[in-house]
Order: sequence, then C-alpha cells, then structure tokens
Amino acid sequence: MKNSQTYIQANKDRFLNELIDLLKMPSISADAKYADAVHSTAASVASHLTDLGLDQVEVCQTAGYPIVYGEKIIDATLPTVLVYGHYDVQPADPIELWTNPAFEPVVKSTEIHPEGAIFARGACDDKGQMFMHVKAVEAMLASNELPCNVKFMIEGEEEVGSENLGVFVKNNVEKLKADVILVSDTGMLANDVPSITTGLRGLSYVEVEVTGPNRDLHSGLYGGCVANPINTLAKMIASLHDENNKITIPGFYDKVINLSDEERAEMAKAPFSNEKYCKALDINEVMGENGYSTMERGSIRPTLDVNGIWGGYTGEGAKTVIASKAYAKISMRLVPDQDPVEITELFKNHFEKIAPNSVKVTVKPHHGGEAAVTPIDSIGYKAAALAYEQTFGKKPIPVRSGGSIPIVAMFEKILGLKTILMGFGLDSDAIHSPNEHFGLFNYYKGIETIPYFYHHFTELSQNEL
Ligand code: BES
Ligand code: MN
Ligand code: MN
Repeated sequence: MKNSQTYIQANKDRFLNELIDLLKMPSISADAKYADAVHSTAASVASHLTDLGLDQVEVCQTAGYPIVYGEKIIDATLPTVLVYGHYDVQPADPIELWTNPAFEPVVKSTEIHPEGAIFARGACDDKGQMFMHVKAVEAMLASNELPCNVKFMIEGEEEVGSENLGVFVKNNVEKLKADVILVSDTGMLANDVPSITTGLRGLSYVEVEVTGPNRDLHSGLYGGCVANPINTLAKMIASLHDENNKITIPGFYDKVINLSDEERAEMAKAPFSNEKYCKALDINEVMGENGYSTMERGSIRPTLDVNGIWGGYTGEGAKTVIASKAYAKISMRLVPDQDPVEITELFKNHFEKIAPNSVKVTVKPHHGGEAAVTPIDSIGYKAAALAYEQTFGKKPIPVRSGGSIPIVAMFEKILGLKTILMGFGLDSDAIHSPNEHFGLFNYYKGIETIPYFYHHFTELSQNEL
C-alpha cells in the first residue's frame, strides 16, 4: 500500500476541497423542501464513483431517495468488500446556534482538533466518513494496489430510517454479494486511543398524543376541574422510570442479553473518566440505571428518552390556557435480543394502560431497528485491527456504541454478512447538533487506514482457503 499512501499525501488538499463541495449540498432527507439537494447529492456521489474508475455506477431509484451503486470487480475469485454509507444528513436546526452556516463549510482548529476540523452538517455523519472510502479506493486504483473487489452502496435515507434500503437489499441479493461489509459511520474513543465499534443499539421510536378537553380552555375558568393533558403527559412520562432509573414497562427487560462479568470487566478496561465526561458536558454528575457504569449505560443497556415534548402556549408572554392536547416523541434504545416491534407494542399497551380515564391517548410508532454486535475473532475484525495498528501505532480497542444503524442487523439477516464498523469520528464532533465537525486528522487517518484493511482482509481471506 506504499504507492497508495504516497498518492494520498500528494492529493490531500484536493481530497479536502472535494469533501467541502459535497458538504455545501443540503441533503436533508427529513425535510421535503430539500428534495432537489438530496437528488443532486446522489448525482454528485455517483460522479465521484465514476471518476475514480468504478464500473456499473448507477443512481438506483427507490420509492424514496436514490441509492448510489458502483463496483470494481478485478477478479471474481478474490474477496469482495461492500462499502455502505449515507449521503443524507440531519436537519441543521436550531440554525441560530451554528457559529458558521451549516452548509457553508469552514476549517477551524479546536482544542481536540488542533490541526483543524471541517465544520458543516454531515462533516462527520456521514459525508466525511463515507467520502474517506471513496478517496481510499481512488488511491488504491490510481496506484494499482486494489487487492480485491469492491462494491459501493451509498444511500440517502439513513437519517429517516432506511426503509427503502431494506427493500433494495432484499431485491438485489446477487448484486450485493460480498464477503464483508465495511462502514464508517460511528466513532472512536480518542485520536490517540483508536477503537473499533463492535456493537450498535437498536431503536424503537414512538410519538404519543394525549387529549383532554375537546378545545383549549381558559385556565382560570376550567383550571382544577379537568385533566390538563400536559400535566398528565408529564406525570405519565415520569412514571416510565423507577427510583433506580429502571424502565417500568412490564416485559421491557425480558429479552435483554446480560453481559458476563468477564465481558463487563473487559469493557471497563477502555479508558473513560466520569469527571472528564461531566466537564465536557457541563454537568455536575452523571445519572442512569443503578448498578451500571456510564460506559455500560450508554452501550449495553436499553434506555428510554423523551426527544421532544410540546403542547399549549409557548409564544412570548403569558397566555392563560389549558391545552386540549399534549405530545411527546420518545426513543427507546435497544440491546440484543430486544425486538423493536415487540418493544413498541409493550410501550403502547403500557402507555394506554397508565393513562387516567380523564384523557385519551394515542401512540404512533415511527421507524425502528434491531441492535447488532460483531465478533472480534472474524477475519474482518482482525483485518481492521491490523490496519489501525499500522496507522495509529497502537492496537485498537473493541467498543460497543450506543447509536443505531438499523441496516446493519438487516445486512446480517438478508445478506448473511457481518459489518465491520471502522468509525473515525469523536463523540465531541457534535453529530446531529449545531456546529457538527470532523477533524482533518480523522479524515486523513481514515483515508490512510482503509487501504490497509483491504490488504489485510484479502491476505487473511486467502490464508483461510
Ligand atoms: N451514524 C449515526 C449512528 C451512530 C453514530 C452510531 C455514532 C454510532 C456512533 C446514524 O446516522 C444515526 O444517526 N442513526 C440514528 C438512527 C436512525 C434510525 C435515524 C440514531 O442513532 O439516532
Ligand atoms: Mn450516520
Ligand atoms: Mn446520523
């Protein structure tokens, strides 16, 4: 991979400028106003794949946003790496909290990224990380060092639940045939503590509506006489955790796989400081399920969180009113073997049951997905670990993440393939938040590390034969 590395060093500035151009496109999949931008981003990704020399590059239409596909088959007897990523991004809201506009990328240095970081929506999640793969394969092809076959599948609906990707994968099992799936859409512990993600949580997401009286009421004339849906909703939500911060929904923990003491001890070896964690978030103390560490609470344990709550008067000044309705959006992060459909059902039944007779409740399910774990004794994991060791000079630590990429569990079910999660982002990169950024160190380190994965994966696969 020597020539690829030389090529990468020689083309660094262009690699950065190309990413900056991609980040200027507001490909927000959640908001239909940006549909044109989402489509042109797909076209731009496709032209990058064509330019680097992939064959069969296609912008595959779906019932939603297109999936960009491309491949380079150098020899059918060699292994195939299937790269997955997403070109859609989260909405930029609240936009007033961005120091620079979300779609006008700038490079600035920060305490954690002294060598500079690109600030823009999607810089880390996932345009920057997805594009590392495009550039790494470009480098290998340009230097005649691509050791195996490669397929790219880049979607535009990850941030809204990947519903059409599931259909696409089911319909294209032959086309997507591969030996391993490679994804950079997660993070690592720190720039000097490389890690590989070995687990993702699942997700069940619901929206609840609590209805009291049939219209908004004067809070003086009616206050104290009817159920206030906002008061009621707040009480119902509060009751979803007990005094030990355990979730009170009956059956919620039934299928949770508990880790052995050995596994927990292994996990506890990863460097982590509650003190630093609190400092970074400006909080006095952490809080969560009794009996578990912060790392465990954020990865191997399921959670329930309100993501949004509204109702009544929130404008300027005071309006004396009892609202007719109150709403909340609630996410539950799941662990193996919790089934998102089952959990959603348990939530719905419980929430309806705890509603007092004075209100009506509806629960609307949104997208969800299953958790995933990757073993650390697979060829894919070993190849990734060797690659990190080469570029970071240290063995990477296996770490389970709290985030979700529901398609990873589907890949396993439909294609029978494990996914290697080579994430290069940091928790402090503010994904989904204002001022999202991605370190230049991380971007270039990713591009440098990926070719070694191809090299080791091909070698280890051949040794197995
Ligand atoms: N890339 C993230 C998931 C992620 C980030 C996993 C960091 C691990 C570490 C992905 O784009 C994402 O945001 N997923 C959503 C779920 C999806 C169904 C909307 C999530 O985790 O909230
Ligand atoms: Mn992502
Ligand atoms: Mn995301």
